[in-house]
Parts: sequence; C-alpha cells; structure tokens
Amino acid sequence: MDLDRLRQDYDDVELDPATLGPDPLPVLERWLEDALAVGMLEPNAMTLATADEHGRVAARMVLLKGLSEAGAVFYSNYDSSKGQDLNSNPQAALCFWWDKLERQVRIEGRVERVPEADSEAYYRSRPYGSQIAALASDQSRPLAQRSDLETRTAELKAAYPEGVSVPRPRGWGGPRRSVRWRNTRDSNGNASPRR
Ligand SMILES: Cc1cc2nc3c(=O)[nH]c(=O)nc-3n(C[C@H](O)[C@H](O)[C@H](O)COP(=O)(O)O)c2cc1C
Repeated sequence: MDLDRLRQDYDDVELDPATLGPDPLPVLERWLEDALAVGMLEPNAMTLATADEHGRVAARMVLLKGLSEAGAVFYSNYDSSKGQDLNSNPQAALCFWWDKLERQVRIEGRVERVPEADSEAYYRSRPYGSQIAALASDQSRPLAQRSDLETRTAELKAAYPEGVSVPRPRGWGGPRRSVRWRNTRDSNGNASPRR
C-alpha cells in the first residue's frame, strides 16, 4: 500500500478560538452532538493513553460514558492493564478524532475514580449481555482459547439468568478526568481542551 499517496486536505474548517468561550464542557458536548448528527458510528469513542510506573506508554480505545462538571468518565476493569497503569500512575491522556467534522479534542492530566455508587448505577444501566461479558472477561489477560470465554459466559448465564441481578465484577468502575482548556488552538487549528 502506498501510504505516501494518501492525502486529505483539511483547509475547509476553521476554528475561531473567540467562539469557544471559557468553558470547554459545552463545546465538547456540542461537538459530540455534531459527531452523532453526521452519522459517526461511535462518536463517544476516544483513545486513552496511560503509562506504567516505568514510563512505558500504552493506548487503546474506550467509550466516554459520562461528561459533567466533575469530568469525563469511561468505564473499565481496574485490574486490566490500563487499570493497573492508572493505579501506579494516574496521569492519562484522552483523544477524540471525528474525521467527518475535521475536529480533534485532547484531554490530559490526572484521573481519579468515580464514586462506587456511580459505577454501580452505570453497570446497572448496561444491557444484560454487557453485564455478563464484563463478569466473564478477565480483561487484558490472554485467553488460552476462545472456548474458555464461551464456557465461562454460558456458566454465568446459567448462574444469573436474565432478570436476575448480575453482580458487578470486583474492580470494575470508572476513572474520570476533569475537562479544562489549556490551548484553544494548535498548529492544525484543532481545539485542545487539556490541562
Ligand atoms: C471502539 C472501542 C471502544 C471500547 N470501549 C471500551 C471501554 O469503554 N472500556 C474498556 O474497558 N474497554 C473498551 N474497549 C476495549 C479496549 O480498547 C481494550 O482492548 C481493553 O479494554 C483492554 O485494554 P488494556 O489491556 O489496555 O487494559 C473498546 C474497544 C473499542 C475498539
């Protein structure tokens, strides 16, 4: 594949920092709405970068599941690789990229855990299948074979049939990061709410 020939012209959209206002939260909310309106599959998908205590960096996709004055929230397993990174080094970076809008948003800084009650409330709002999946998966651990996960899922479905309360996995919850401006514009004209 000739990657060098892939080119996209990003001159169409201009961002005037003066239109953004002092609070990045309403801007991010509006841009998420815009991303939904233009038909992006997962407008709330964002890259999460973490680093372990040795400074080894890892990035992966997560879904933004809460946004308020308290911060931006995603949910995961605290025992996963990302969870372990954040336990030893709570500095993280989040990055949204909405290609159809030609917009990027960056959020950087220290994360904290949301209250247990918030994690429980979000877990309870998830569909049955997602609750079982969270319980069945040992996130970040390699699977010897896929059938192990299928067997565990079937066992859990038998133990907790639909309609019965599925327990929230130990160590499942939501790190969050508050959202504040740092730079309103970078060299590409992208807004960058970050700290
Ligand atoms: C679009 C997309 C959204 C995802 N959202 C989440 C999420 O919200 N929480 C999560 O724990 N993993 C999510 N994942 C899976 C993670 O990217 C990752 O593979 C998994 O959490 C294990 O990461 P870790 O080993 O670095 O901890 C998502 C993956 C994709 C492709």
